[in-house]
Amino acid sequence: MCLLRLHQSERRGTPLTRGLKFNINEELLSNIEKSTGRIHQVDLLDDQGWTSTVHKISAENGLYILKSSFKEKYREWLKTEAEVLKNLKGQHEIPVPFYIDYIEAADQNHLLMTFEKRVTLTKALRDAGSKNEKKHLMKSFGKLLGRLHGTSSPHFNWNINWLEGELKRAERYLEAGECDGDRVLFEKLKINSLPEIRQTLIHGDCTTDNVMVTEGKVSLFIDVAGMTVGDPRYDVALALRKVMADSELTEAFYEGYERFRLSSKEFNYFENGLYEFF
Ligand SMILES: Nc1ncnc2c1ncn2[C@@H]1O[C@H](COP(=O)(O)OP(=O)(O)O)[C@@H](O)[C@H]1O
Ligand SMILES: [Mg+2]
Repeated sequence: MCLLRLHQSERRGTPLTRGLKFNINEELLSNIEKSTGRIHQVDLLDDQGWTSTVHKISAENGLYILKSSFKEKYREWLKTEAEVLKNLKGQHEIPVPFYIDYIEAADQNHLLMTFEKRVTLTKALRDAGSKNEKKHLMKSFGKLLGRLHGTSSPHFNWNINWLEGELKRAERYLEAGECDGDRVLFEKLKINSLPEIRQTLIHGDCTTDNVMVTEGKVSLFIDVAGMTVGDPRYDVALALRKVMADSELTEAFYEGYERFRLSSKEFNYFENGLYEFF
């Protein structure tokens, strides 16, 4: 008790809460410190995602990421992400951050995981000094994704119909007015579904924002709420969405991927179709 008070008074006036996006209150801090040890500093990351606020936590036991969501829809996703990471804790086959804790408060959810000193592939491609460097990055992305699609991990339920589930989820968001896609597009996706292919493990939101690079290699999946058994064409479509117009970068990706190529019909079904609902 005494220690905690001392601790709190020491904290007053330190740079701990400077520049934060929302108020990390004492209760949340103490909760986090159960895992991290004494927190020295909390910084808002320069690189933020779309569904959350992400802070870097420097603490006694190391560096951590606190990912927080506030909107109901995104809180649900964060909870699922926490479950996936927790499930994968301790395995080495699928490279993801290490799960530390998940905290639910009245109007916000928080996921605590290890901080990984890497940059997103989006940033690495932007900063790449040459076309060759970009090609290497895309090939490496293809390789990592191909490996994921070839993994028969026991940490997931293989007896699901992914597309059926995703269409149900899409309809739910459509009815709640929480997506870009409209009713016409939704009906089109339902009627004109693609010929089925064998499901694999997938990332489920495999854009260049959601994989990270170190030493020129794409080596880590983040933002893994959608990681499940599903249609691998969805991952490939999202992986290529930003580089589709560049045939060299697309080729480089496939050189690393080695499993199959998407037809333009398949690409459209996912990138200009299903993805509009999430
Ligand atoms: N474990 C981590 N280590 C380092 N940086 C991370 C980590 N997780 C996320 N980030 C950073 O935070 C950003 C947002 O995270 P992300 O999980 O993609 O959130 P969102 O769901 O909002 O897109 C990422 O682009 C990345 O820069
Ligand atoms: Mg993201």
